[in-house]
Amino acid sequence: MTENYQTLLVSKDAGITTIMFNRPEKRNAMSPLLHREMYQLLTEIRYDKETRVIILTGAGDNFCAGQDLKQYGLEMESQPEWVKDDIREKVRKWRTELLRTLPQPIIARITGWCLGGALTVTVGCDVAIASDDAKFGLPEVNFGHFPAGETTPILANYLQAKHGLYYALSGKIMSAQDAERIGLISKVVARAELDNEVNEFARCLAEKSPLALKAVKEAWYLSTCTAPEASFAISNFISQRIVRDQGGRPGLEQFVQKKLRPVSETMKIDKT
Ligand code: COA
Repeated sequence: MTENYQTLLVSKDAGITTIMFNRPEKRNAMSPLLHREMYQLLTEIRYDKETRVIILTGAGDNFCAGQDLKQYGLEMESQPEWVKDDIREKVRKWRTELLRTLPQPIIARITGWCLGGALTVTVGCDVAIASDDAKFGLPEVNFGHFPAGETTPILANYLQAKHGLYYALSGKIMSAQDAERIGLISKVVARAELDNEVNEFARCLAEKSPLALKAVKEAWYLSTCTAPEASFAISNFISQRIVRDQGGRPGLEQFVQKKLRPVSETMKIDKT
């Protein structure tokens, strides 16, 4: 897996891979190069056996100030059509498809500003944990535009209209507490506790069976876009696959043999 990027930092420790937006001087705004590099990284990381859990965060004090309004906004106008189409497709794909279809869970660790298209990234991650000084918002209306690209479609599907429109229409900044209240993030914690919270959660997931984690994500996201009958059928197929790939039901056998209490322990797995 390539690990040398200009706009991203990638580090690995004990099964946990941290991806950092690395443009702190631009508040980690997403430039065309950042989108290309993220697309490439997420395309490859699913096959990386050393990565059991991913943390996505921003270098410096901020998560991400949204699209790069200069490079992605103004300068893209003069690019040939095929370049615009190519980059827009990569943007849409990494934020809406690649994050969700990764077999590994991905946790957003959010500090400081999280604006515009960064809300789409927040929604695309499986879990989002923010510090109490994080600030969220859709400021587009303040420069005479709207949350464009896939941002409005994603948020309209994900948030209740009364919550989403309150912020999209006003451009008001949302506190981390409000982001938690409306379900945009999973949890808000004090700034001093953020790293412990995120790392402890990542370690908790890294202990689980990768096959089980992949199944949870697939069943969850496919259930959000299929009719109930199809969701039940998909759920059954996923069950059959996981039993086949695990060579049976080792966890249930450990429970019956009184070797495992699943409310407080995780099934032992071979990490080789
Ligand atoms: N696109 C491009 N550049 C951005 C950016 C964005 N979304 N957000 C910040 N930057 C750049 C600034 O232009 C500045 O660059 P410079 O030093 O070359 O002049 C640098 O990042 C620092 O920004 P600054 O405004 O000085 O920092 P701040 O900490 O006072 O404020 C923000 C941070 C994020 C509140 C402010 O920069 C802002 O409002 N950015 C626009 C956010 C936005 O509208 N996002 C939605 C995009 S879809």
